[in-house]
Parts: sequence; structure tokens; C-alpha cells
Amino acid sequence: MTPTRSSADSAVDGATTSELTVRRLLVDMRTPLAARWHRNDFLTQYFNALSMSFPVGEQFFIDSMRGALPMLAQQPEHLQLRRDILQFIGQEAAHRQIHALYNAQLETQGLVNKWQHWALRRQARAMRLGMHPKSLLAVTCAYEHLTATLAHQTLQHADALEGAEERMQTMWRWHASEEIEHRSVAFDLYQAVGGNHRKRVQWYLFVLLTMALEATAQTVLNLKHSGKLWRLGTWCDGLAFFLGRQGLVWRSMPALLRYLRRDFHPQQGEHGSDSAEMAQRWLTENASQWRGVR
Ligand SMILES: [Fe+2]
Ligand SMILES: [Fe+2]
Repeated sequence: MTPTRSSADSAVDGATTSELTVRRLLVDMRTPLAARWHRNDFLTQYFNALSMSFPVGEQFFIDSMRGALPMLAQQPEHLQLRRDILQFIGQEAAHRQIHALYNAQLETQGLVNKWQHWALRRQARAMRLGMHPKSLLAVTCAYEHLTATLAHQTLQHADALEGAEERMQTMWRWHASEEIEHRSVAFDLYQAVGGNHRKRVQWYLFVLLTMALEATAQTVLNLKHSGKLWRLGTWCDGLAFFLGRQGLVWRSMPALLRYLRRDFHPQQGEHGSDSAEMAQRWLTENASQWRGVR
């Protein structure tokens, strides 16, 4: 799979190549999805909820990176980072596209995407208040850490997607692999433009709370619309997934707390070489599922 160069490459004169690849996923996302494509209703609606947040969320990540870029000094040591930012934008744009197709299917199933409106309203408020590009970037860094944490769990624990439709497993693992691949780009830009630790942590706590509340609310709405909310099995599945002995909350806690450290970097700890290896292994073993764009 040889990535081809695009005109966007010329935007970074003389930069070295990035290790990031923009890929086009070759999975069919237009064929109608089963109302229950995962092994149970709770997981189906939880993953659906996450997908609903992505087109708006990932556009925000792209915009915040573009907004902060003029603050990055024109120095040779930043050429690699500039190249990585272009690739980051390309990857997030590809994710948006796939999730928009996926979300269009959810709409035909009668699900209502409220999360995108909550996010858009929050973004409009931030613009009205004239939030500094560094603060907007701190918000992106926080979301990128949360998505990298979820991505790590998705790739490491087969049960995250066990029993799901094959193409959905592929789509979520492709997204997870690329989230791990580009997990440090926003953070490196934040550091390079002089972003500080206090603001990074403050915005992280805000994002953590917002994401937990909005993911829960959208999942509940989806379950309500699909008529599965008031079933004991749904609640048991949900509790087991988050708070069971091997629940997502406990598995993710070390990584979630690590972000608070002053010396945090996305490539440390659990998100370090293990994560990167898992992502690269998946991308290599599933190279027939994607085509390199650049
Ligand atoms: Fe993404
Ligand atoms: Fe991302």
C-alpha cells in the first residue's frame, strides 16, 4: 500500500516525511446496519452515541489545530510537527467522513443525534467568549487523550467488539489504530506554542466531565428511541461494561489519571510502545481494508 502525495504536501516546504498515513477505509458503510449490530443493545447504542459526536468533534479538533498553527515559530525543528499536523488533519477528516455515513444510517433507524447540537452550542459559546487558540487546543488535547485511551482499550481487549458485525469491528479498529498513531500531535503542538500545565489540566477535567455526561445522555436517548431502555438486561450489560470487574472505568483509570502529571506525554506508559505496536500490527494485518491516500 503506497501512499501517494497530494497537493497538501506542498504546504510544508522542505519538511521531512511524517510517520502518519492518511488512509481511506475500504469498508462498505452504505449497506444498512442492523438495529443491533453489536452483541447487545447497550453496546450497540453506546458505540452509536460515540459515533454521533465524531463529525462535529473531529471538525473542532481540525479547526483548533489550524487556529493554533500560526503561533508555531518558523523553525527547522518544527518541520516534522508541521508535517504531522497535516497528516493528523487528513486522518481526522477521513474519520469524519466515515462516521457521517454511519450516522446517516442511525438517522434512518429513528435515532436522534442530540450530542452534535450540544457540542455545536458549546463551540459557539467559546467563540462568543473569544476563547484563546491555546485554550481551544488544550480542549483538543484532552479529547485526544480520551480517544487514545478508549482506542487502547478497544484494541487491547477483544471483548470490546466481540460479537459485532465484521465491518463495524474493522471500522472501529481502524479508527482506534489511527487515534493511537496520532495521539501526540495535538499535545506536541500545545507544548511547542507554550501551552501550560495548569490550563491543560483544567480543560481536561472539564472535557472529562462533559464527555462522561454527554456520552451517557446520548446512549440513554438512543436506548429510549430503540425501545430498549427499560429492560433489565440493558442496564446489567451497561453496568458490567463500565463497572464490572474488568470494566472500562477500572481499565482506563491509570491512563486517565496519568494526564494530570506535569511530565505527562501521550507516548508514555500504557499509551507508549505497547499501544503503538498494537495499532501498527492491526494496520499491517488489515492492509487489505484500507488504501493509503498520502
Ligand atoms: Fe478520529
Ligand atoms: Fe484524534
